[in-house]
Amino acid sequence: MIRLLLLALLIMSLPAHARDPHSYANADEVSVRHLMLDLTVDFEARQLRGFADLQLQWHRQEARTLWLDTRDLVIERVWVVRSDGAWQPATFRLGATHALYGQGLSVALPGQPQKVRIEYHSLPQASGLQWLPAELTASGRYPFLFSQSQAIHARSWVPIQDAPAVRFTYDAHIRTPAGILARMSASNDPQDQATGDYRFSMTQPIPAYLLAIAAGELAFKPLGPRSGIYAEPALLDAAADEFVDTERMIDVAESLYGPYRWGRYDLLVLPASFPFGGMENPRLTFLTPTVIAGDRSLVSLIAHELAHSWSGNLVTNSDWNHFWLNEGFTSYVENRLVEALFGSRQADMERVLSERSLALELPELAPTDQALVLDLADRDPDDGMNAVAYDKGHWLLRTMEQRYGRPAFDPFLRGWFDRGAFASASTEDFLQYWRQTLLRERPDRFSEAEMQQWLHQPGVPAHAQSAQSAAFDAVDAARAAWLQDPTTTLPTGDWSTHEWLRFLDGLPDDLSNARMAELDQAFGLSGHGNAEIAFQWYVKAIRSGYVAARPSLADFLQRIGRRKFVLPLYQELAKRGGDDLVFARSTYATARAHYHPITRSSVDPVLN
Ligand code: BES
Ligand code: ZN
Repeated sequence: MIRLLLLALLIMSLPAHARDPHSYANADEVSVRHLMLDLTVDFEARQLRGFADLQLQWHRQEARTLWLDTRDLVIERVWVVRSDGAWQPATFRLGATHALYGQGLSVALPGQPQKVRIEYHSLPQASGLQWLPAELTASGRYPFLFSQSQAIHARSWVPIQDAPAVRFTYDAHIRTPAGILARMSASNDPQDQATGDYRFSMTQPIPAYLLAIAAGELAFKPLGPRSGIYAEPALLDAAADEFVDTERMIDVAESLYGPYRWGRYDLLVLPASFPFGGMENPRLTFLTPTVIAGDRSLVSLIAHELAHSWSGNLVTNSDWNHFWLNEGFTSYVENRLVEALFGSRQADMERVLSERSLALELPELAPTDQALVLDLADRDPDDGMNAVAYDKGHWLLRTMEQRYGRPAFDPFLRGWFDRGAFASASTEDFLQYWRQTLLRERPDRFSEAEMQQWLHQPGVPAHAQSAQSAAFDAVDAARAAWLQDPTTTLPTGDWSTHEWLRFLDGLPDDLSNARMAELDQAFGLSGHGNAEIAFQWYVKAIRSGYVAARPSLADFLQRIGRRKFVLPLYQELAKRGGDDLVFARSTYATARAHYHPITRSSVDPVLN
């Protein structure tokens, strides 16, 4: 008897329905078609509070249970709609807490109702939300809230079927204190004033990981007829200038891959604790302020997030094992947009940088994690967020483009977005589409065996052609000359950000303090205003023991919470141990408080 109970407990603590490896949802029996959110943003309690109405579609006659995903949610009451339209209480049960998946919420239903209502509130530690006190914003006048739902954090602020294959439309009614503007990944009226009462609607079906909300002191500036930017007032002008090419980018993307199907495309600049570079929330890309470099040199990030309006948001990976379908396709499209807008010189440099990050990361990954198709069961889906999905995925599509030529490959890609729009796709779907189109029409160009190698084997196939950049060759030559002969002057006058990154990346790790100081003084690298350049410089400073960079490094780590920057810096410091580790720990001791939960959970294990 006890054994049976234990077994039952064990089964209940795992996702009860192994349909999506990271979700409890029983979407094959019943799925959410529409969500109506009614929430109050309570900055004092650090909670979202209200209810979610879920409109259901039933797929199996005998089904009587709805399974949803939650994490750290307090479920107060669950109601079910009767056929006469009245609400009646329903019995529900929260399962055991699973470290990765949270808690399954099962609702026992009398029949197959059209709708359930869940009254709930989130907790301050919600992994998908960051609550910033006013002191950590630019003006210091109002607190700030933002969400980051990808990959499986939507469940920490909405009880939902948190699986990328489940799509639904949504409406929301959001209340905030007056003076604070709320925005969502939905219709946002640029005319809205900060009244504290907002209504949103998203009429295109989206997966839960694209649910997003931000609320704070936000001002708006148009960039074009269907694009604009939201930012804290102090950043608004700089941001609008940086992203001036956004509208043109949408036009170029449309000319390559078909109509932009989401209505408006706005950008929202978040406080510097945003853990990522960007997040492709539909109609409203979320951005780190660290891309505002002052010279528009980092706008490939906008190209990337915009590209997701096709790859990812229109055609969505069926589950996180096929993440490369989102990010590899997007990285390829991103590079095409950069080429069309800014020319091949820049696109080539960015491809060389992409291949370089892949080369650096591959040796750190287990062979099975070097394949494009992953097996992330029982693992955090965020483990798949590495150079393989992005850069190896990009490289596969580039290789196909080279083999078939653009006149055939471009329509192929456009067809993939058209036929799969507003649905999800697995690698198997991609293979089928390819077999029915390009492989059938030109069987000799790119073989099934080559394709399988990219998808399932570690590393990069030997047939892959490396990107070339004459500009980078010149940087390499200049660096070599300077390393050989200290009296050489570096031709940095017209170096772009990318050329600087190339230069720094290629410096030896054991450069003398004197030569590091020479560079630092000549080019102001410690405390450099371009976060990418500063980051690359600090990596070299740590490795070479150039401790003069520490005060600016500490400032960087205190100010910025973007995981791509702070995690490697703490890792480099920890690797050196001793004094560097002491410095890392003391910096983190004060910085941690304003890092996002996602950044914290990555850095914590490094310094403990
Ligand atoms: N969708 C990703 C961000 C993401 C992926 C968040 C997985 C959580 C889990 C976004 O489009 C992205 O790729 N951002 C990159 C920038 C890009 C230019 C490579 C980032 O944040 O660094
Ligand atoms: Zn992306």
